[in-house]
Amino acid sequence: MRRNIAVIGGDGIGPEVVAGAQAVLETAAPGALRFTAFDWGAERFLRDGVTLPADGLATMRQFDAILFGAVGDPRVPSNRHAAEILLGMRFGLDLYANVRPVRPLLERLCPLKVGGGKVDFVVVRENTEGPYVSMGGRFKPGSGDEVATETDINTYRGVERVQRYAFELARGRRRRLHLVDKANALIHAGALWRRVFAELQSQFPDVTARAMFVDAAAMQMVREPEQFDVIVTNNLFGDILTDLAAALQGGLGMAASGNLHPQREGAAPGGPGLFEPVHGSAPALAGKDQANPMGAMLSGAMMLDQLGMTAEAKRVEQAVTAALAAGECTADVGGTMGTRAVTEAVVRRL
Ligand code: NAI
Ligand code: MG
Repeated sequence: MRRNIAVIGGDGIGPEVVAGAQAVLETAAPGALRFTAFDWGAERFLRDGVTLPADGLATMRQFDAILFGAVGDPRVPSNRHAAEILLGMRFGLDLYANVRPVRPLLERLCPLKVGGGKVDFVVVRENTEGPYVSMGGRFKPGSGDEVATETDINTYRGVERVQRYAFELARGRRRRLHLVDKANALIHAGALWRRVFAELQSQFPDVTARAMFVDAAAMQMVREPEQFDVIVTNNLFGDILTDLAAALQGGLGMAASGNLHPQREGAAPGGPGLFEPVHGSAPALAGKDQANPMGAMLSGAMMLDQLGMTAEAKRVEQAVTAALAAGECTADVGGTMGTRAVTEAVVRRL
């Protein structure tokens, strides 16, 4: 059965890295995927004012998965189009689990003295709530009396489903789960997250579960990352910690992610998974053939895996690893090649 994939390159280096990922996926799973490109991004927004088209979510629901680059363009300082497109899809398709694996493909990519061999964890970031829902406002803007509020939304339903997914994920791995929060200072949201965590712990007695404050977790991620197996955290902390975590695997150019709506019995159906590198649009690198496409390729591998093509996913990861080991990579991970040459190198190894 052919799978239909929507491709949204977006802005800056997004289209370049996504082209690399698409070439690799076409080679790894010949004839199995049909790609359809969408021009959503800053260029389109500046031309006709459209961010996420009115029928955009309905259109995306017709696909089996979405391959996404990045959005963000200096010509749109408000970042409005980026928020409406990316957050619009994460929220609108109810992709509540942002899953970010952290494992250096080669030991040398990890800057820590402990060595990359010990770093192997997954961050599950809540993806539909928190302070990213744009609830708040400004009073007396522009004046010396200006007041700004940004409300942090946490619902029982939202917290429970993402934590449950993390417990299930941990069950399939080394059975260790850390809840990362700031329950000592953000006491209301913290109380809800911890209550749910305690409830779920009793349902998953085989998973060793403990809570850690986010500041301590940031330190531990550098000092002793081998203690982590699965981390579940909120939208904001997950955003920040996974850039730190990306550095443990060779930098933003190597980090992959999937935005998922894990299906639950009786729950409302969500949209197709959206797979994207963790990095942004890196405007300074755009159009220079310098961006590392491996994070996008590995996001494509996550997509294959989620579509049930586990063998093909593994082959993509192996081909990327082999290219890296041979030094066939971009400058950020110690090579001298451009985006297109790296793509050809990985394709050749498939
Ligand atoms: P960024 O991730 O674009 O860049 C941060 C640093 O990492 C830069 O030095 C960049 O050159 C480098 N970098 C990123 N990806 C790379 C790659 N594939 N290969 C080599 N080097 C790479 O984050 P930044 O600079 O904070 O944001 C730039 C724009 O991207 C902004 O408009 C921001 O809003 C947007 N953004 C979009 C995201 C998304 O679409 N998911 C995520 C993060 C930022
Ligand atoms: Mg981020």
